[in-house]
Formats: sequence, structure tokens, C-alpha cells
Amino acid sequence: MMQTHTGLIGLGTMGAALALNIAEKGFPIAVWNRTGSVTVAFQATAGDLAARITPTETLAGFVQAIAPPRAIILMVPAGQPVDDQLAALAPLLGPEDLVIDAGNANFRDTNRRDAAGLSFRFMGIGVSGGEEGARHGPAIMAGGPDQAWAQMKPVLQAIAARAEDATPCADHMGPSGAGHFVKAVHNGIEYADMQMISEVYGVMRDGMGMAAAQIAPVFARWNEGVLQSYLVEISGQVAAAADPVGGGAMLDVIVDAAGQKGTGRWTAVEAQHLAAPVPVIEAAVMARNVSARRAERAAGEARFGKAEAVVDLSLADLEQAMIAGKILCYAQGFAMMTAAASEFDWALDMPAIARVWRAGCIIRSSMLNDMAQALAEDAGRNLILAPFFAGLLDESLPALRRVVAAGALQGLPLPALSAGLAWFDLMRQARGTANMVQGQRDFFGAHGFDRLDGKDLRHGPWGQAG
Ligand code: 6PG
Repeated sequence: MMQTHTGLIGLGTMGAALALNIAEKGFPIAVWNRTGSVTVAFQATAGDLAARITPTETLAGFVQAIAPPRAIILMVPAGQPVDDQLAALAPLLGPEDLVIDAGNANFRDTNRRDAAGLSFRFMGIGVSGGEEGARHGPAIMAGGPDQAWAQMKPVLQAIAARAEDATPCADHMGPSGAGHFVKAVHNGIEYADMQMISEVYGVMRDGMGMAAAQIAPVFARWNEGVLQSYLVEISGQVAAAADPVGGGAMLDVIVDAAGQKGTGRWTAVEAQHLAAPVPVIEAAVMARNVSARRAERAAGEARFGKAEAVVDLSLADLEQAMIAGKILCYAQGFAMMTAAASEFDWALDMPAIARVWRAGCIIRSSMLNDMAQALAEDAGRNLILAPFFAGLLDESLPALRRVVAAGALQGLPLPALSAGLAWFDLMRQARGTANMVQGQRDFFGAHGFDRLDGKDLRHGPWGQAG
């Protein structure tokens, strides 16, 4: 058996795919799974790669099969199972060994584990791309000490997806939970992209009376243009698929209640903590929660009636609205990461994050190339002010306004697109309306306010506060 420095625990769908990917790139690897039959089944399907894989039956045998300094990748469900696995490994590992949590951990858990004084080295990496990505090239957002990244970089960059310019989509985001934080923002944006696509799907279905088979080529066409992305591409394929059971459109028989494991929600919650608005992501999380309330929605429709057909709205308007919505959403996501960098004292490299997201991950898209470039010009500037994206917004905003207005008039729900538009209008209002909020706060709570003229009087002439 070849000597290995790398091991992987957890041969579920993602873990198995990642182990095969690592072996394929030439790194011998030991594997272990809590249920031994899973390991046996995995090894049996590894084909030629089996020669580079050492299956093990016990955790101690697994650790012994790896030569120090060890790098052990955990692919177990986030939360308690990670803590349990770390505790089980602790007596078996030395201080030079490295454990890498590659699951969808909450970055606060990664921070906590990092600060807990583990008896071995530890890092957390965000891995995106689903099973296919894990097997043939995911995007990897690594967090942890510099030397842990230096040790893992050759493996992680070898197994990662490659952007068009051949750059590997795996990079070091920063210390501790930085990798899992960036992965959570990725997932928040994933929710938002998916929601905006489902909103324009709803306009086509309910507002324009289009069948799934008519909607599919629209997404396919959009995927040839500015909106080129994995999610738009698969949405076309989802709309095109026929139901093998009933023969109609697959989409038409899927229950309209979206599942979620919580990463989008973490992003929305964290954004609130950071006072960094991500309303498009928040709207997407909200819409998933509403989607689960099917009986209430049915009662609502029975009482208030359904949406009506749109008039004077074109497919080109929908495409442009999506372009605008996408720019606004990503501008919010990058601004949130800028706020996190300052809050947690991380040197998050915004252009590097955009570059990592260009391939392999679920939100990969051609627009991320332009975002990487715009952020490289000035990482601190809001993306909507980058000349390239400001120009795209000039072109696409009128359509976003028409689409949001039509939705509002006809009763078609467009929470993410309208949240993006409302945020944009706030962001280009030099004289906002919070002077009224400040006046109210001072009225009932004597909270005081700043004056535009800089003069001293900080309370209004009302009640005692005056
Ligand atoms: C990825 C995805 C993945 C996520 C699924 C399901 O980047 O590969 O983000 O990590 O787990 O997309 O997420 P939800 O169940 O929350 O929709």
C-alpha cells in the first residue's frame, strides 16, 4: 500500500466524491466511515483509484494508516457530529497533525473549535459544487493558520475547479472561521440567485401564461448572455424535463415548498449582527420559509384571489431585471464581507473571493469575472459604483422597475427583486428620510440628533426634551 499523509472521514455522497477526487489527482488517501459497510461499498466502486485508497475498519487503524504529519479531512454532518469526531480523534493525534472540517459548518462553531485549544492543528474549509463538484473540481474557501493552508494548498488546489484562465478555485480566505464564513455568504447568494430565478419563472408561468416547456428555452437563451451561470443553466434543464411517471412537465408536479439546511439563514442573521444589509438574501430566506406554509397560502388565495396576468412586460424586461437584481445582490454580499473583515479583523481579499467563485461552485457565472476585475480596481468601493456595473445598472434598472411595478400591480410576488430595488433606491438617495426617525426617537426618548449645520442644539422643541 502507498504511504499517505492524507485521510478522510465520512464517506457520504460528498465525502466519497472528494476522496475519489483526491486519489485521482495522485494523492494516496486513507478513508474511514463510522458504518464499516459504507467503506466496503465505497472501495468496491473506486475502480482503478482503489490502488491509491486505504480503506480502514477502526478509527485507530485509520490514524495509523496515515503517516505523520497527518492531514485528516472531516466530511461529517455539521454541528455536534464534528465535535464528537474531534473528541474521538484527540487521543489518537499528535500536535503536528491537522484536522480539516470540510463540511458546511457555521463559522462561529469553527471559531469556537479553533479557540478551544485543541491538541492538534485545525482548519475549516468551505467546499462548494455539490457531488459533481466534489468529484471533479469544487470551489474551496479555506480558513485557518497560514502554515495549515501552506500544507494543504497543493492538495486543495489540485482537486479544485479551474477558472477559464486555469487558476485553481481554491484559496486561503483568512484565519479560523473565515473560510466557512465566506462559504456561508456564498450560500446566501446561492439562495438569492435561486429565488430571483424562481420569481421570474413565476412571472412567466402566472403572469404570462407560459408552460414549463416554453420557459425552458428562455433560460437556455439567457444562459448565452450576461446571465450565463450554472443556476440559470440548470433552471432551463429543470423546466425542460418531463415527468417519467405522468409524462407532463417535471416542474409541474414538484411540491412548492423549498427545503433548507440553514446556511442562507446564517448569512441573514450574521448580516443583521454586522449591520450590513443583504435584503435580497433575507428575502430569499423569507420566501423559503413562506413556501413551507402551504395550507396558509392556500387559505390566502381562497380569501384574496390569485395574481393576474401582466400586461406590457416582455421577456427582455425579465432578463434585464434579473441582471440588475444579480448585481444588487452581489454588491450586498461583497459589502457584507467587507463589514465582516473589519469586524473580525480578517484580511478578506474580495477579488480573490470573486475569483474562487468563478468555477466549481453553485453560484459560478461569467459575471464573476467582471466582479473580480471591478473589485481588483477598488475592493473598498461598493460594486454598484464600479463603472462597469454602474453602466450595466443604467441599462437594466428601468426593466427592473417595470417588472417590480407589474408584480406589485398584478399581485405576483417578487420579494427578492423588489428588495434589491428598494435597497438600490436607498443607496442613491443622498438626503434620506432617517431625519424623521431621529426626530421621533428624540421626541419619545430624548435620544438626541446631529444637525446638518453642526450647531449645538441636539434636541427638538417638543415636551421635556426641548
Ligand atoms: C454548495 C451548496 C451546498 C448546500 C446545498 C443545500 O455550495 O455546494 O451550497 O453546500 O448544502 O446547496 O443547501 P440548502 O439545503 O440549504 O438549500
